[in-house]
Amino acid sequence: MPDLSSHRVVVTGGAGFIGCALSQRLAGQVAKWVVIDSLHPQVHPVQERPADLHEAAELVVGDVTDPAVWDAVLADIQPTIVIHLAAETGTAQSLDEATRHSHVNVVGTTQMTDALGRHGIVPERFLLSSSRAVYGEGAWQKSDGEVYYPGQRSHAQFEAGQWDFPDATPLPSIASRTVPAPTSVYGATKLAQEHVLAAWVNARDTSLTALRLQNVYGPGQSLSNPYTGIVSLFSQLAMKGQSIPIYEDGKITRDFVYIDDVADAFVAALGKPAEPGVLVRDVGSGVGTTILQLAESIARFHGAPEPHITGKYRDGDVRHAECSIEDTLATFDWTPEWDVDRGVAGLQEWIAAQQA
Ligand SMILES: NC(=O)c1ccc[n+]([C@@H]2O[C@H](COP(=O)([O-])OP(=O)(O)OC[C@H]3O[C@@H](n4cnc5c(N)ncnc54)[C@H](O)[C@@H]3O)[C@@H](O)[C@H]2O)c1
Repeated sequence: MPDLSSHRVVVTGGAGFIGCALSQRLAGQVAKWVVIDSLHPQVHPVQERPADLHEAAELVVGDVTDPAVWDAVLADIQPTIVIHLAAETGTAQSLDEATRHSHVNVVGTTQMTDALGRHGIVPERFLLSSSRAVYGEGAWQKSDGEVYYPGQRSHAQFEAGQWDFPDATPLPSIASRTVPAPTSVYGATKLAQEHVLAAWVNARDTSLTALRLQNVYGPGQSLSNPYTGIVSLFSQLAMKGQSIPIYEDGKITRDFVYIDDVADAFVAALGKPAEPGVLVRDVGSGVGTTILQLAESIARFHGAPEPHITGKYRDGDVRHAECSIEDTLATFDWTPEWDVDRGVAGLQEWIAAQQA
């Protein structure tokens, strides 16, 4: 654990899945620590402080888009570190609720920087939880070696069941090489967060570390939010003895990264001395897993029937999302430790305990 004892920390969205895991690591390590969280009803079915948020965190229930919330918080704490997690996170949902997603993710970020400016505060560093969604489909390579960006699959492609791009294989995304090209409104707002904060920190000679997280899963993820957390959703079906339905042909790929590895990556990022400017790194397991493989692993665990392929699809779904973590391993004192089979087992025990 880096020495953070002199730091005053504000964590937005800090009562959520990642924020609570992070809270277990920050407790006792920082001089002062305020969490701003609206306790969004889609994530928090009960409007109460989550039990997993460490008791040492001071929780301010408020909305990051509300300037009055920021004014009250910044009158109380002049943060040296801001960890910005608050967001609307429903990728598919964001297509039809674009205004809500943009408002919280983009305007919530600009309200934060405007408020810091009003109060004359320049934190030493920002840590942003960005997303692999900024890459969209990312880069693919044709059989003749040409690297290209296929962009978003069209509705007609989905209708025809053309799941993959012909004669090409996907390349793992990595911040140093892959040009961001989001194909969801959510991804566009996460990229906008990066750009807004980059503009601000470069103008104020301070520091931004943006971590582009792959699919985070594990204990603590909302079991009631139908828009996030495919591992939790599949697990609940298999626990009930149901066959898990699988979209497309089952070969959609994701990089599933366990919550403990993600919380450790945030701590490792804080352990690297802040340098002026912007550092962007990918946080994943570095291993791609197809949705079918994931579902089979969960079904096996519960002795549930085999998953079944439905051939259904969701417009805008990315076919392949996987990252290279080589730069991240070289930058931070961090290595992911959980593979999918172990992570799935860890999650099942937690879900069973919640349901009991
Ligand atoms: N979980 C993942 O797989 C994943 C992947 C990539 C990026 N991320 C990013 O990580 C961050 C945290 O995600 P998470 O998985 O912990 O999600 P989460 O939904 O569990 O946590 C988000 C928290 O933000 C709060 N929040 C939402 N709107 C708010 C608002 N207007 N004002 C104040 N608080 C608000 C919610 O109440 C919630 O507690 C998000 O920025 C998300 O985009 C998550």
